[in-house]
Amino acid sequence: MSTHFKHDEPVETNRLDDMKQGVIGKPLPRIEGLAKTTGSAPYAAEYVIENAAEGVLVGATITRGEVLSIDHDSVLDMPGVLGVIEDPKLTTRAAQGTAGEAPQQQPGTVCYWGQPIALVVAETFEQARNAAKHLKVEYRRDEDAPLDMKAVPREPQDGDTVNQGDLDQAMAQAAHSVDVTIETEGHASAAMEPHAAIAQWQDGKLIVHASLQMLNFNIAELADSLDIEENDIRLIARYVGGGFGSKLGISEEVVAASVAAKTLDRPVRVVMTRQQVFQCVMRRSESQQRLRLACGDDGKLTGFGHDALVSNMPGEEFAEPVLQSSHFLYAAEHRSLSLDMARVHRMTAGSVRAPGEAIGMPALEMAMDQLAEEAGIDPVELRLRNIPERNPEKDLPFSSHKLADCLRQGAEAFGWDGRPRKPRHRCEGEWWIGTGMASAARVHNVNEAKARVTLKPDGTALVETDMTDIGTGTYTILAQIAGEMLGLPIDKVLVELGDTDHPRGPGSGGSWGAASIGSAVFVACRTIREDLAKRAGMSEEELSLRNGSVEGGAKLIELLDGQELSELGHYEPGAIEDDYTASGFGAFFAQVRVNRFTGEARVDRMLGAFGFGRVLNEKTARSQCLGGITWSIGAALTEALLFDPNDGHLVNCDLAEYHVPVHRDVREIEVLMVEERDPVASPIQAKGIGELGMCGGAGAIANAIYNACGARMYNLPMTPNRILAAMPE
Ligand code: MOS
Repeated sequence: MSTHFKHDEPVETNRLDDMKQGVIGKPLPRIEGLAKTTGSAPYAAEYVIENAAEGVLVGATITRGEVLSIDHDSVLDMPGVLGVIEDPKLTTRAAQGTAGEAPQQQPGTVCYWGQPIALVVAETFEQARNAAKHLKVEYRRDEDAPLDMKAVPREPQDGDTVNQGDLDQAMAQAAHSVDVTIETEGHASAAMEPHAAIAQWQDGKLIVHASLQMLNFNIAELADSLDIEENDIRLIARYVGGGFGSKLGISEEVVAASVAAKTLDRPVRVVMTRQQVFQCVMRRSESQQRLRLACGDDGKLTGFGHDALVSNMPGEEFAEPVLQSSHFLYAAEHRSLSLDMARVHRMTAGSVRAPGEAIGMPALEMAMDQLAEEAGIDPVELRLRNIPERNPEKDLPFSSHKLADCLRQGAEAFGWDGRPRKPRHRCEGEWWIGTGMASAARVHNVNEAKARVTLKPDGTALVETDMTDIGTGTYTILAQIAGEMLGLPIDKVLVELGDTDHPRGPGSGGSWGAASIGSAVFVACRTIREDLAKRAGMSEEELSLRNGSVEGGAKLIELLDGQELSELGHYEPGAIEDDYTASGFGAFFAQVRVNRFTGEARVDRMLGAFGFGRVLNEKTARSQCLGGITWSIGAALTEALLFDPNDGHLVNCDLAEYHVPVHRDVREIEVLMVEERDPVASPIQAKGIGELGMCGGAGAIANAIYNACGARMYNLPMTPNRILAAMPE
């Protein structure tokens, strides 16, 4: 049986608040934590599959041009080599931009240095790697391969263009204004688990163990790539060692392994090297952003301008949506927003953690800090004065809005003093010390989701969906929702994820996972409760379940009487999406120190206060925020993809050269969760959490750097050389 819920009306009350088990929201440790920390949770490449051959991808060594020929004979006699897979599908159909968007390059076309063009398969990984190095490839090289987005024509993204009122006039007449241009460099997802797949064909069916975020989508992408039916594919991704967007769509390792397994008639494993992950997995676009802000003496914004330039490679549709929060975060009558994209020959630009807001929010918040200084208004106060009643562009109500609470509670918890601010007011030895803040915002997303919940005759429950847990805590929160609704401790709930033989989940992306799949599980459980209530001779409202029994009544196993109750929960976003603007909000506060002589910046402590609907698990939610703030530190200080201007290859393609924050870079972080129930966001009143923690954080750090040493920074990351150059005498 199946229960369908379409979200058309606000859900003001929720059964989760009436339940007696007491597990929802609690900071329970992850149920798969032991398996992961003891190494017994298998990741994609770790499955032991008999007779599996090993494939190594070969990347193009030109930036733009065409593959004329691949000389198979150059490697076929080498030890252990089984074959060379050269399939146009490798270069044309492996959709890695954003899930669902297939790139449009012509077969054999090379668009970026490192683009996979072939797969060499051998008995062992070492043999395949060796042969891959010796594979002779003949290219036609196109010398005109632009790498700099500022030097090529721009394609306006009309969907993002807004013109309301007259911004130029508002700027000219304003008591205070800023007009700044801020640039950010590209980011890598840098997930710990590399992209990997093992493909095998059994009785005409393709089974692939892979590291993917969106099995519900990926199965269609793979079917399309191979020109076979979805029914003939089973994708498995039980554990995923991080994705951050890089595994939203399938990429070449999945297609290559599948084609090779078919061609060679045996299982094939393909694992990208760390360098390949950097070179050919999607990147976050670099950006150039002009911010124009105008306000009166009262600090109320009259003009708001945000014009951004981002890049992608030819044929790709995705344009980093840097204006996403700017459309609704602050009120201003005169508004002008635009987004342009330029074509460059770097690898695909796609979704990297908090696509858009991750770099758009810091730029906006750096400009806001400057406006606060111009107007002589405390930065927290400036934000408070500009929170709109309704979405200023679409004139829609907000579903719920915790920005003001986050600003006030965050300021209080951080010890923000609100005194007039001046740079270089505190010095300890070689270090200038300062504080800064920024708002946080990220749109809330949901996706259609299905999950089956089965209450077994033995009084345990089973949750099944092809939803993934990419390190976010999905296993645990689904056990909590089912446990809460069915009155079971969570060790009586088995959650099975990451297998396309289960009902289709929403996939993990865009922070929509928990709210979407959680709602499907919730909907299924509510129907099961109705059945149980009938059996107990009462209404669902009266049914109070705890630890496997009706309170003061029968045990669940007695009510079940040898039968199982199984329900497919089907959650579908509804009309309500068009009636409201739903977003998570928050505030960041940072204290940094900047070395007077070297320009090195360190983040002493950071606090993030976030309002994102119902918290399903305080521990996993907090972990997401900690991760987001850690990304903020990386985006602010160290992370940048650097390309060789001569041949276009990515220079820093490993974790030694691409600097994500390490333990010593991340010191005191405090997370304040401002609880709320959002009746519009989802039937379980939860909003997206995952990405909000980095949407603006780098701006707080930039503002703290200015407050510390007086250097206004217009380029992220703020490396020591840049800070030193910007520091006043
Ligand atoms: Mo996220 S960047 O949508 O995985």
